[in-house]
Amino acid sequence: MEKTSLIIAPSMLSSDFSRTAEEVESINKSGAQWVHLDVMDGMFVPNITFGPKFIKDLRPHSDLVFDTHLMVNEPERYVVHFAQSGSDYITVHAEASVHLHRTLQMIKDSGCKAGVSLIPSSSVTSILPVLDMVDLILIMTVNPGFGGQSLIPSTLEKISELASIREKKGYDYLISVDGGINLSTVGTIARLGADVAVCGSAFFCEQDRFSFVQAMVEHARV
Ligand code: DX5
Ligand code: ZN
Repeated sequence: MEKTSLIIAPSMLSSDFSRTAEEVESINKSGAQWVHLDVMDGMFVPNITFGPKFIKDLRPHSDLVFDTHLMVNEPERYVVHFAQSGSDYITVHAEASVHLHRTLQMIKDSGCKAGVSLIPSSSVTSILPVLDMVDLILIMTVNPGFGGQSLIPSTLEKISELASIREKKGYDYLISVDGGINLSTVGTIARLGADVAVCGSAFFCEQDRFSFVQAMVEHARV
């Protein structure tokens, strides 16, 4: 697959929810290509965020790619709702869906790109049978649930492992990395083969978000 420059996906989790439309507008103007939307159910992860209506209401405020990350048990119950809300990518956790192949097919049938995610303690082996059907793999580099955590180094080898499998087998999924990504860590994940950098706290703590995105892309090149 031809390597293009790193896609930056600011995560709304770290935005100010009382000023949601303004925060999305700041992503639109930042030069980032995707908006990452973290859906949490208080069961799969110890936190609760928002559902499909939130995403539907945001949809008219941005033309960027909506990258929905479902941190919920039995995500197959919600796939259709998130597709109808305007998500472009829907990513589910391998650990949360018993019939993962069926769930990913359901996402594709609903007209969205299908992603699968791994928590830090899960290995690539668990998703080998679905690698030929996914559009995106989301490697969690922190334990999911909260923004602002530090990247767990032992998760990094999964990025190069997936890049090498993609090369060998001719697959074309994107490799996205989520958790603790900032100016200090983005170079490492890019060199290992990441295509998408999800970035919550590091993006939203910046006043000048345009310069931040430019700096992230620069750091990914070196
Ligand atoms: C965590 C979420 C992340 C979160 C990342 O469970 O999946 O998308 O927003 O936040 P940072 O970039 O602050 O680690
Ligand atoms: Zn996420």
